[in-house]
Amino acid sequence: MSELTQLDSWLALAKHYDEIKDVHMREMFDADANRFEKYSLQINNILYDYSKNRVTDETMGLLLQLAKDADVASKIEAMFNGEHINHTEDRAVLHTALRDNSSESIMVDGIDVLPEIKAERERVKALAEKIRTREWRGASNQAITDVVNIGIGGSHLGPLMVNEALRPHSLHDLNVHFVSNIDENHINDTLEYLNPETTFFIIASKTFTTQDTMVNAETARQWFINKLGSEEQIHRHFSAVTSNVPLAKEFGIAEENVFKMWDWVGGRYSLWSAIGLSIVIAIGSEAFDELLEGAHDVDVHFQEAPLEKNIPVIMALLGVWYNNFFDAQSMAVLPYDQHLHRFPAYLQQADMESNGKYVDMQGNTVDYTTGPVLFGEIGIAGQHAFFQLLHQGTKLVPADILAPVYSFRCIARHHRALMSNVFAQTEALMRGKTEDEARDELAAEGLTEEQIENLVPYKVFPGNRPTSTLLFDTLDPKTLGAIVALYEHKIFVQGVVWNINSFDQWGVELGKQLAKSILHELNNDNYINTHDSSTNGLINHYKKRRSMKTGTEQEG
Ligand code: F6P
Repeated sequence: MSELTQLDSWLALAKHYDEIKDVHMREMFDADANRFEKYSLQINNILYDYSKNRVTDETMGLLLQLAKDADVASKIEAMFNGEHINHTEDRAVLHTALRDNSSESIMVDGIDVLPEIKAERERVKALAEKIRTREWRGASNQAITDVVNIGIGGSHLGPLMVNEALRPHSLHDLNVHFVSNIDENHINDTLEYLNPETTFFIIASKTFTTQDTMVNAETARQWFINKLGSEEQIHRHFSAVTSNVPLAKEFGIAEENVFKMWDWVGGRYSLWSAIGLSIVIAIGSEAFDELLEGAHDVDVHFQEAPLEKNIPVIMALLGVWYNNFFDAQSMAVLPYDQHLHRFPAYLQQADMESNGKYVDMQGNTVDYTTGPVLFGEIGIAGQHAFFQLLHQGTKLVPADILAPVYSFRCIARHHRALMSNVFAQTEALMRGKTEDEARDELAAEGLTEEQIENLVPYKVFPGNRPTSTLLFDTLDPKTLGAIVALYEHKIFVQGVVWNINSFDQWGVELGKQLAKSILHELNNDNYINTHDSSTNGLINHYKKRRSMKTGTEQEG
């Protein structure tokens, strides 16, 4: 049995769960007029309301004791101190250093990394500003009108999410495109309307070996050469962000256009590094600094706030409460700000690649569940799609709701209607609708007794479905930086409690390995029998249909 499940606080939580599992949040609100004041926190202009969760003072006390027993405070310190907490890759985890403008030095393996971080950021800003101000000239002395970021995973989702989120803060006559899928449709659809003379590529890959990115990068390079008839102008149109500088140079990218990242920045935590080049080009250096500043404010809060007032810690503990005691398998992230439409996808990688693990820090199989299945969508869209399950399904799906007090353009008619939905959903999920309430409503509609009795079961909402709400003033760069950092640290704290390494990702390797060997098998039309019958069958069907399309003969 694991140490975690033998902790007094864990055992007490299990017992407490039995006592509280049938208590309705309606009763909790009725019993305590100060529930909102008690269970809400604020950082900068972000209000975090967690009062609509199935917790009491006793629950919170036990969860905080669990955080203490799991040594959360010293693990936080270890991360900020540059210790090699990513033990399977023997690396420090210091994305926080990328947004730290106040420390005098940050040591990693005996070296102060701050000067290099600052120097690299200045290089990124210098290039970005040249492109933004039209000083950077392309092949025929024209200014850049389109930037294409080619990357995947953390080299794609973070910059894409931020670019979408900060769209109102971006230059409107400079388009930023993102290509991630190795499916040729993605790059072809993107390049179709672009002019190579005014297009600038960023090849974003920490390793510079990721198949999807390298195949797309090569296609982009060929397209550029074919269109312009020579390789000569590549240095004006291609850049790279990578920790593998030699490979980027080998690819043909001029050294002055290669931006460095470090092995202590995980891919899914890298938007703060030069991986954010496309962000700086879109929103400019000052706004990028604000993004970093917002994240840094949260870093300071995370290090200094006591556990009971520490927002990422509370977010994490609530997740553990539902995941491990209520046996909730999933969690929903529901932004009500259109510009956050890629936030759930971004967070999916951040959370699921970090905490989707069954082996603990000592190499043992865990005997408790770890990271949830995270999904999400713009809240309003979700309301007309999967909210039915949230309200009346058989599964408990805790949800985070994110909403702005005012939107960028602030058309009151739109925004008030939007916000009425935010407040209504959190209330409806919490309160539900009782049988008596449903019956009264149907009677008021003039239905007969028989009609009422037939319909009532379907009109009942059990409620008691937890939501936490992040209500922020508006989605400016600083606020966005803070929101992202809150989630980064939440994920880390959960990893600490679950005693797993949130910073490696061995689970992505097997598929890559197999794809490599299968790719060889797809290079000819010979039938194969080297796999299980399903995989053989699928591959052989593919080969047969492919050759019928191309008219080649089948062998074997
Ligand atoms: O396959 C998963 C992964 O390794 C992610 O962790 C990473 O963000 C992504 O691929 C892209 O990796 P790279 O930046 O090295 O191309």
